[in-house]
Amino acid sequence: MMKLLLFWLRSTASRLRPDSPGNKSYQGLRAKDKTLNTTIKTDFDETIDNINIIPQDIGRVILNLINNAFYAVTEKKKQTGENYEPTVSISTKKIGDRIEITVSDHGNGIPHKIIDKIFQPFFTTKPTGQGAGLGLSSSYDIIKVHGGEIKVETKEGEGSEFIIQLQLL
Ligand SMILES: Nc1ncnc2c1ncn2[C@@H]1O[C@H](COP(=O)(O)OP(=O)(O)O)[C@@H](O)[C@H]1O
Ligand SMILES: [Mg+2]
Repeated sequence: MMKLLLFWLRSTASRLRPDSPGNKSYQGLRAKDKTLNTTIKTDFDETIDNINIIPQDIGRVILNLINNAFYAVTEKKKQTGENYEPTVSISTKKIGDRIEITVSDHGNGIPHKIIDKIFQPFFTTKPTGQGAGLGLSSSYDIIKVHGGEIKVETKEGEGSEFIIQLQLL
């Protein structure tokens, strides 16, 4: 299972690269901004063997997080301009009997006053048509079903880091 997840992560990350031929995901994400050129950084732990998860579900969660991260760095790019290189990082790490999957960005971060709401269904700060506010709430539910945890660390103006922890078999 873990092999599948890592394979999935690897191929997703490479499909998101702007120079990847025919990368539908990336083209979809940057349909509104042709100049966006987001760097994807990956750091995968090769020592992870086995984990009891359904890769499709966890895959959907990670894609949600990546979408949010892309959005955050795109917004920041619009505000900051030339000197800002939009970057999204994805990593996996084994910690004891758990695995940690992290998706981080250096966007604008999440304001303190809304941090308690972001996992609630239909909560969104995006313009109508851009977000239904269901990404994080469904991600939260999926991770719970897998007996895991999802948490966020963020600093206003500096970025966000979403951390998924899952139990290894
Ligand atoms: N990486 C991020 N950077 C900044 N804000 C974020 C990030 N991820 C989530 N958020 C905040 O959490 C809200 C809810 O996210 P989500 O449930 O995925 O819904 P949606 O993406 O449709 O708005 C977003 O509208 C945004 O305010
Ligand atoms: Mg979302």
